[in-house]
Amino acid sequence: MNITLVYGTERKGSTYNIAQLFLNRLKDEKSEVTEIFLPKDMPHFCRGCSLCFMKGEEHCPHYEQVNKIRIALEKADLLIFASPVYVYHTTGQMKTLLDHFGYQWMVHRPNQSMFGKIALIISTAAGAGMKTTNKDIADSLNFWGVARIFKYGKGVAAIDWKGVSDEKKAEIYKNVDTLSEKIIRTSKNVTPSIKTKAMFNVMRIVQKRGGFNKADTEYWKVKGWLDRKRPWKQ
Ligand SMILES: Cc1cc2nc3c(=O)[nH]c(=O)nc-3n(C[C@H](O)[C@H](O)[C@H](O)COP(=O)(O)O)c2cc1C
Repeated sequence: MNITLVYGTERKGSTYNIAQLFLNRLKDEKSEVTEIFLPKDMPHFCRGCSLCFMKGEEHCPHYEQVNKIRIALEKADLLIFASPVYVYHTTGQMKTLLDHFGYQWMVHRPNQSMFGKIALIISTAAGAGMKTTNKDIADSLNFWGVARIFKYGKGVAAIDWKGVSDEKKAEIYKNVDTLSEKIIRTSKNVTPSIKTKAMFNVMRIVQKRGGFNKADTEYWKVKGWLDRKRPWKQ
């Protein structure tokens, strides 16, 4: 299983360490692992020019960085997004990256490969905000069409990994084991959830009625999705 990790922080704190526990449990000797650290690997804010939507993603002023990340995401079977909670939400740098992938929301030009992928979203907080943070990321992954999404949020009662108690770490090791087993089982036969397929069908109706712009409609037509083809069927 190839794995790409996107870290919403450059700190090697609790979030990073928990992501590494999952990685070590989930990778095998054949896995290709790619790690993306934010903001280092995508330091720009979305400018709101909408060129990605209207003309194509290659017109984005930050295409070079975004495209490198797209390639890293495409080659993975499992996507891991890991973010600390900042004021009840994901980090600004993670949000900025997700903004740059707005064009691949199902309502525009979904990336076909996403319909065959699993994702794991990880967040840590001192106490609270994991649910809203995981949702910040899950909103995008759902609308990208990712087939199966798992979430893990942990209140670590600390500001770094060193400060996490042995008791909490023991809980985390156990949680990582249980959830990893579930992910490995799912990876044997990845099919999009009913919710993903239903969302796709709604978007298809929108596109059939003319969609939002020429670039999107042309894309759906070329893919054959306005006819009988579907992204999860080869
Ligand atoms: C700017 C900022 C905002 C934070 N907001 C919250 C919060 O809303 N809720 C919370 O419980 N912890 C909050 N924290 C604490 C971190 O989420 C927590 O320590 C986390 O585990 C840090 O992850 P890291 O070690 O990977 O950097 C915040 C920390 C920072 C730096």
